Amino acid sequence: MADLIRKSAAPLHPLVPRETETPARAPAALGAFPQLRMRRNRSAAWVRRMVAENRLGTEDLIWPVFVHDGSGRQAVESMPGVDRLGLDCLVDSIGAAGALGIGAVALFPYTEQALKSPDAREAVNPGNLICRAVREVKRALPDIGVICDVALDPYNSDGHDGLLRDGRILNDETVEMLCRQALVQAEAGCDVVAPSDMMDGRIGAVRQALDAAGFDGVTIIAYAAKYASCFYGPFREAVGSGSRLVGDKKTYQMDPANSDEALREVALDLQEGADMVMIKPGMPYLDVIQRVKETFAVPTLAYQVSGEYAMLKAAALNGWLDNDRALLESLTAFKRAGADAVLTYAAVEAAELLNKT
Ligand code: PBG
Repeated sequence: MADLIRKSAAPLHPLVPRETETPARAPAALGAFPQLRMRRNRSAAWVRRMVAENRLGTEDLIWPVFVHDGSGRQAVESMPGVDRLGLDCLVDSIGAAGALGIGAVALFPYTEQALKSPDAREAVNPGNLICRAVREVKRALPDIGVICDVALDPYNSDGHDGLLRDGRILNDETVEMLCRQALVQAEAGCDVVAPSDMMDGRIGAVRQALDAAGFDGVTIIAYAAKYASCFYGPFREAVGSGSRLVGDKKTYQMDPANSDEALREVALDLQEGADMVMIKPGMPYLDVIQRVKETFAVPTLAYQVSGEYAMLKAAALNGWLDNDRALLESLTAFKRAGADAVLTYAAVEAAELLNKT
């Protein structure tokens, strides 16, 4: 004991950080190279490319697509450049994205008001819009990954991800619905189900339900750390749930003030069988992405959500930001933070830019 005390009191080498200090990362030898001029490694495009620590590629992009049950395209007002696609143009658009190198799409339905109900039963209808969309896309484009969102909000008359009774979101009753929803999506042929509802225990329950029905090959991406964020506003317009939302989602989505809690959410989802985890929103939560990746070293996805997209586009359309550079910089930041892939509404645009350079 005395020995230990003497040791820790011993003077440290000047380059060894004290325990109370943040450990120095790279430059343990800062000052040992007086000639070092950092700018040499930035002096030309070839050397910048050579020493780049992170690189964004088209394979890192996942494209979220809104689908509607009519024909043609419908603009989403709060997301300039984003359209809801009818089933008649869905396959062509996704095929074009695939040709650019985008590996996967995440489908989200715009649900007609008449199909919404307090028990969200349309969510488990094997003939619902999403299931029909999945069948068409997988039939025409078997090599593109198709991700389905598992949550009740597009189908729920009050806009919540879970079933609401007497002003409370019911956890376990919702999880049962989510399992049935994941099953109809798996039957339709999706590659991935992505529970985004934030109910407790849903990953384990969905995994069991899928396995029991023979869908052990279906991947689960858990929206593990999903925050109760105002940045989802434009999405809710796009899927037609915004004006319907009664109250907020704070009793199930996470408090933006927390990141230890995100680690617990991720740990639970992994324990329950998640193949990949997601952090959402993206850019305001880069620290969470970094902590999750460093702690668990599992495939970690970031979602650049609708509000982030809207901010970027609004500034670009006003001439206040350079659209292309802001887009690529924001996406590269996700890679730097540790994300393996990024969901972004600008995936097609980004892929075009990446293929140019
Ligand atoms: C619904 C869901 C939401 C998003 C993805 N799935 C909205 C919400 O939780 O209210 C948000 C995506 C975005 O804003 O781009 N479960």
